[in-house]
Amino acid sequence: MSEVAPYAVRDGVAVITLNNPPVNGLGNALRAGILQGLQRAEADPQVKAAVLIGAGKAFSGGADIREFGKPREKPDLPDVNDYQDAMQKPLVAAISGFALGGGLELALACHYRIATPKAQLGLPEVKLGILPGSGGTQRLPRIIPVAKAVQMMTSGNPITSEEALQLGLVDEIVQLSEMSGSLLDAAVVYARKLVAERQPLRRIRDMRAKGEVDFKKLRDEVARASRGYPAPLEIVACVEAALTKPFDEGRKFERERFAHLVQTTESAALRHAFFAERQTTKIPDVPEDTPTRTVKKAAVIGAGTMGGGIAMSFANVGIPVTITDTTREALERGLQRIRQNYAGTVQKGRLKQEEMDRRMALIKPSTDLGELRDADIVVEAVFERMDVKQELFRKLDEIAKPGAILATNTSTLDVNKIADATRRPQDVVGTHFFSPANVMRLLEVVRGAKTAKDVLATTMKLGKTLKKVPVVSGVCDGFIGNRMLEKYVQQSLFLLDEGATPQQIDGALARWGMAMGPFTMYDMAGNDIGWEIRKRRARERPDFVYGKFADRIAEKGWYGQKSGRGWYRYEPGSRTPIPDRELDDMLAQYRREMGYQTRPITDEEIVERCIYALANEGAHILEEGIALRASDIDMVYLTGYGFPPYRGGPMFYADTVGLDKVLAAIERFQKGYQGSQWKPAPLLVRLAKEGKRFNP
Ligand SMILES: NC(=O)c1ccc[n+]([C@@H]2O[C@H](COP(=O)([O-])OP(=O)(O)OC[C@H]3O[C@@H](n4cnc5c(N)ncnc54)[C@H](O)[C@@H]3O)[C@@H](O)[C@H]2O)c1
Repeated sequence: MSEVAPYAVRDGVAVITLNNPPVNGLGNALRAGILQGLQRAEADPQVKAAVLIGAGKAFSGGADIREFGKPREKPDLPDVNDYQDAMQKPLVAAISGFALGGGLELALACHYRIATPKAQLGLPEVKLGILPGSGGTQRLPRIIPVAKAVQMMTSGNPITSEEALQLGLVDEIVQLSEMSGSLLDAAVVYARKLVAERQPLRRIRDMRAKGEVDFKKLRDEVARASRGYPAPLEIVACVEAALTKPFDEGRKFERERFAHLVQTTESAALRHAFFAERQTTKIPDVPEDTPTRTVKKAAVIGAGTMGGGIAMSFANVGIPVTITDTTREALERGLQRIRQNYAGTVQKGRLKQEEMDRRMALIKPSTDLGELRDADIVVEAVFERMDVKQELFRKLDEIAKPGAILATNTSTLDVNKIADATRRPQDVVGTHFFSPANVMRLLEVVRGAKTAKDVLATTMKLGKTLKKVPVVSGVCDGFIGNRMLEKYVQQSLFLLDEGATPQQIDGALARWGMAMGPFTMYDMAGNDIGWEIRKRRARERPDFVYGKFADRIAEKGWYGQKSGRGWYRYEPGSRTPIPDRELDDMLAQYRREMGYQTRPITDEEIVERCIYALANEGAHILEEGIALRASDIDMVYLTGYGFPPYRGGPMFYADTVGLDKVLAAIERFQKGYQGSQWKPAPLLVRLAKEGKRFNP
């Protein structure tokens, strides 16, 4: 008997259990086991009905995505579904936990579906750049309203069994507490009732799709909302086929579109990101079973922009957090911002008032540093000055309990020097949150020279608890993300010198897929910050050259959104950047003064220069061991810098272009304006020569 799909008979009902931990993924063996079970049930005259149920907490998480793009062994899921359709005995899917992707398609090919109250049902394939390829696009619009089916499949977001019941996707919800039985008991009772009442075999394939839809309008809407992603429009096309074609033709069309999508670079990129996210916590010299420290209480020092957001991140997951600042006023200002932030979410209907109150109650303000003596982790988010941070860490060393993790949110300072201000550098680690810290998913975890392995393991685990994507970075100026960003900034400013405008550069990169162009980003972050960094660079690394026009903007006090003017103009109270004629004139004047020749610059050049600058610096970072793997660098850009997911991150993107081509372009740039600033990374040169990729 199949171990992954054990078969049993109870009261005349065959029970086929999906048993492929952790999520009952529908790999080769499980598909074959299910088919065997169904055949056995069909052949046994003692069996009157059959139930499919998941072992463990879920029905099925769907296909094994590692099998995508590879030749699939038979039977594939459509074969199993065909057999389900042909069965002459009622077949019931008993859904607990979740039925996602292929898991839901398996359930859709059953005649009836019952579910536990909080179960999740969804077709998330779109998130991997593909579509439900085993009849999902054909069956879902036949059982629930077409518009809702489109919405479920183009968003990829699951619905709960309660909603599924209302829509008709689920036939009954099993209230386990009332009958104090199991889902299996209920499923057997349900199946026997179907038999006793001679209920028909409800094959979704024989139903008609429901609802009137204006497909032209729908396509326009979906195209607008899914720029760069190929799958949503294909999903709409498949649903249209479900309405207009017989089932088998519709399914053939679905298979073709699936086969096409699987081959696209965009889908490959999204699948890369999916795996990359699961890789970041794997650290070669820190095994997965490294014991971790308990983190039940947290403290944050500094109630400014970052401290407030970090405190919210703890409260959001139920960890009590003490927040301190030097003065009552600073503390009250910080708390007020937190309150406003939550209140805004409540107003938008995305948070219940009670939940806000519960979270606020977890945040305990104090001006007394002594209050954090029982914290398991202390995150420092004070002014970005080494003397201030070292002084504070000396104090923390006196106050914090033994074994507490002492974390710094510094963005540029040397974590090792901060650690050495204490007598316990092994407990010190960098936790580089991104602004707004309660929203942004990226968390760079900076491993100091003396950071203990269990401290690193605990901080990575904590990152996951805080619902972040923790990525390990070694100590260097700017860590992974900001160190790469400097090269991107550098190119964006050179492009101004050569004749491009901020709007043109922003437009090119935004059309390419960046969440926003660089100049819009500078205005958001504050042009005073970049100015400070450039001044520091001029002292520390005079060889690192910047285009000078940015300084003229900063000297005028045009700091961006916060001052109402920067690279763009802003109407009072608005964050919409408006192109500024005066700035264009200043730029032209500046170029004349500097004696720069301008030339037409294409969007393609803008994208290549800026994105290859990221990848090339990423290659240095990889080679130096600052990042553990190319996919970690990709995750940093995908989760912290608005890099388009369907391009997979800067390293993956360079891989898809071909490293030989990237290198050739860089060699071309070396002959152009400020060409000496380009230094192809030795790793890039080597991999390009060997025909290899950054992401193996
Ligand atoms: N702003 C960002 O986008 C960002 C992003 C990542 C990291 N960071 C880093 O986070 C840290 C904080 O930045 P921010 O933008 O929140 O600054 P901020 O100026 O908004 O807040 C700093 C807060 O620290 C308080 N403070 C100063 N010295 C203190 C001390 N000795 N004890 C207690 N409180 C003290 C100040 O009163 C202020 O409220 C810096 O190290 C910064 O580099 C900032």
